[in-house]
Amino acid sequence: MFQENISLRPFHTFGIGVQAQSYASFTSQKAFKTVFAKAKKPVFVLGGGSNILFTKDFKGTVLKNDIRTKRIGKRKGDKTIVHIGGGVNWHQFVRWAVKKKLGGVENLSLIPGTVGASPIQNIGAYGVEIKDVFIQAKCIAIESFTYKGKSIEIGDVLIIAHEEAEFGYRNSIFKNELKGKVVIVRVTYALTHRNHKLNTSYGAIQTQLAQMKIKRPTIENISDAVISIRQSKLPDPKKIGNSGSFFKNPYVSLATLKRLKKKFPNIPNYPVDDKTVKLAAGWLIQESGWKGYRDGDAGCYPKQALVLVNYGNASGQDILRLAKKIQKSVKQKFGIDITPEVNIL
Ligand code: EPU
Repeated sequence: MFQENISLRPFHTFGIGVQAQSYASFTSQKAFKTVFAKAKKPVFVLGGGSNILFTKDFKGTVLKNDIRTKRIGKRKGDKTIVHIGGGVNWHQFVRWAVKKKLGGVENLSLIPGTVGASPIQNIGAYGVEIKDVFIQAKCIAIESFTYKGKSIEIGDVLIIAHEEAEFGYRNSIFKNELKGKVVIVRVTYALTHRNHKLNTSYGAIQTQLAQMKIKRPTIENISDAVISIRQSKLPDPKKIGNSGSFFKNPYVSLATLKRLKKKFPNIPNYPVDDKTVKLAAGWLIQESGWKGYRDGDAGCYPKQALVLVNYGNASGQDILRLAKKIQKSVKQKFGIDITPEVNIL
């Protein structure tokens, strides 16, 4: 069941040539418990590997979540509940929902990764975040810890409901208090089977739908539009290694925005609340001169500066070095700190 000294290159989208001391996959909750008990520790549980940068070999066991169940549950009002295995490919789940005319995740088409990873960083695109449809995650503890005053032992099941998940922009309890402590084996979402709340507020979606000559879009039209937009801007990880956006878009105060606007009147910014705005890290990086930059096989993608890429044989350290240079120059030019969105291991 375990493979020793195996290359992790095929198991994550950055395509970095690191090795794991030991590797195994699991296809059910029961299989996970068996394999986890036998695994050399520490254990790292991998989903689609689409939000991770490996910077060194992994000493321990990488376990790949391959739980691929899909179950349609109850209907309640306009909503249909679905229970999806953590190892299901995210985009495959989206297209499955689209085919069944279930709405809510179409704007999240073509995001790489798995269902189990979706709540960790509260994946989002084109005005929709996973928190909008998330009901709960079924998790298994891989460490002993205390949660809400209760002691949790290895192997215990923990249900994290929406109100406990502490969702924020690219953030959740799984990136904080529960980081490295649980594996998400199943996620429950509420999708709409009627009265869909289609979100076409993003200019890029409107432009794409107009190009497709669609006036009254269906769920499938929106999914198709998002696929086209993403394909035109973002590198396909099967061809060029990457982890999507490498950095988060920074939040700054209105006072900071005012200061920046004096020098950079065209700076893109999006309101968050009455004191805060979000800046576009891609623009900050572009204006700092990095868009299209390449050093060896590590680069900043020419069509979207927020994406760092591995053109072939870059090491995790090469990517990290480039990321640090970019952070430093954005700080120098704008006085703004940008922080990675990807997990660095
Ligand atoms: N921009 C530039 N140059 C660039 C990139 C962006 O000037 O090289 C400008 C754009 O012109 C626009 C603004 O920055 O004015 C925002 O760009 P875009 O709409 O492409 O979105 P983003 O903020 O760069 C975020 C998400 C993406 C998601 C898109 C669409 C983050 C960290 N990234 O990118 O998510 O697909 O919005 O909703 O929030 C991901 O997380 O991996 C990801 C791809």
